[in-house]
Amino acid sequence: MKEKNIPFLDLVTPHKELREELCDVFATALGNAAFIGGPMVEGFEGDFARFCDAQHCIGVGSGTDALRFALIASGVKDGDIVITVPNTFIATTEAISQAGGRPAFVDVDEHTQNMDAQKLREYIEVHCCVDGEKGELVNRKSRRRVAAIVPVHLYGQTADMDPILELAGRYHLTVVEDACQAHGAEYFSKREGRWRKAGTMGRAAAFSFYPGKNLGACGEAGAVTTNDAKLAKKIRMLRDHGQAQKYYHDIEGYNGRLDGIQAGILKVKLRHLASWNEQRRESASRYRERTAPIGERIRLPHEPPWSKAVYHLFVVRVDNREQLQRQLADADIGTGIHYPVPLHLQKAYSHLGYQHGDFPVSEKAAGEILSLPMYPGLRDDQQGRIASELGVFAANTRAASLALAAGAGNW
Ligand SMILES: Cc1ncc(COP(=O)(O)O)c(C=O)c1O
Repeated sequence: MKEKNIPFLDLVTPHKELREELCDVFATALGNAAFIGGPMVEGFEGDFARFCDAQHCIGVGSGTDALRFALIASGVKDGDIVITVPNTFIATTEAISQAGGRPAFVDVDEHTQNMDAQKLREYIEVHCCVDGEKGELVNRKSRRRVAAIVPVHLYGQTADMDPILELAGRYHLTVVEDACQAHGAEYFSKREGRWRKAGTMGRAAAFSFYPGKNLGACGEAGAVTTNDAKLAKKIRMLRDHGQAQKYYHDIEGYNGRLDGIQAGILKVKLRHLASWNEQRRESASRYRERTAPIGERIRLPHEPPWSKAVYHLFVVRVDNREQLQRQLADADIGTGIHYPVPLHLQKAYSHLGYQHGDFPVSEKAAGEILSLPMYPGLRDDQQGRIASELGVFAANTRAASLALAAGAGNW
């Protein structure tokens, strides 16, 4: 019998499959009581650093902690501007504000939905200038220092990093990658003539292990990766109340440590991540094959030749998004919207003074994007059912617009 419901995300099956190994992690933790820090945290940090080709990995409490600590350790000071994109989860800008920074947005690229390096250049070269005395980049109007750039590798695909890194280098800006959705994603750097993993291109990178991520904990968890030993040391202190040695606090820090149990779980799951990512890439290819006849009414995610995306989300674009989402819900197919309101238009950021129309690419996308089911284990027959619903939707909207055109011709 064919089951009807196709969930947006299946978190149950992988945990059933790994149940024994995951239960062993609990048993180990109960046996040695290493609940905070300890061998499982160190073991996972080593494994994840190797997975990312990074020299250091620091396990922390969440992706938000990871971003906040990376920004603070990189020297973001109160009032500094940190440039990012409006089309991301609010944690990106929460971390900037909590580090003392002030988010400034630049629009995203129409095709990839990631930071548009041309818009970044425009922001830097039109709205900012180099302060003659200090040699720092400052915003012309506010005179605030521009300290850092946070490109977000949204939906599991890296931003186009070469031009971002080139601008950052020229204006002495720190780059912290928001890789919270991009575990294992790769970018072909033309500058270097080689593939680079997400998490190794900036001065530091933040990963989230929120349960629904490509690598998810059974609770909250995150990590910073970096090749900078000094930065890694500072982040280790920040996550643990500013201490490198128990009760000797060089700075004020935070309680942002990674649980031993979560680290043990992540260590088990990490062994499967490459294969899970591959399954996501195969599912993405199947979506492309199965929806090819539908044409332009459903616009599929663009994967440029310089990208090996890991499809944390498979996000299509349609003109009549609510109608498609309703149709899929009626067919018991789960979907999501990531994200319905760009950050510059969120109430939380009204004090930044942005308006409708400031970032037209992000704003337009926010009204059209729809995330389809995507997870390892998504079956061909399930994707067939989703594709046939998409086909029906496209045919109906085509018929509706033809009828509309014919009606208009009758006037
Ligand atoms: C792009 C992005 N940045 C940051 C975060 C924050 O991660 P966490 O929820 O682990 O704090 C997330 C997670 O949802 C995210 O998707």
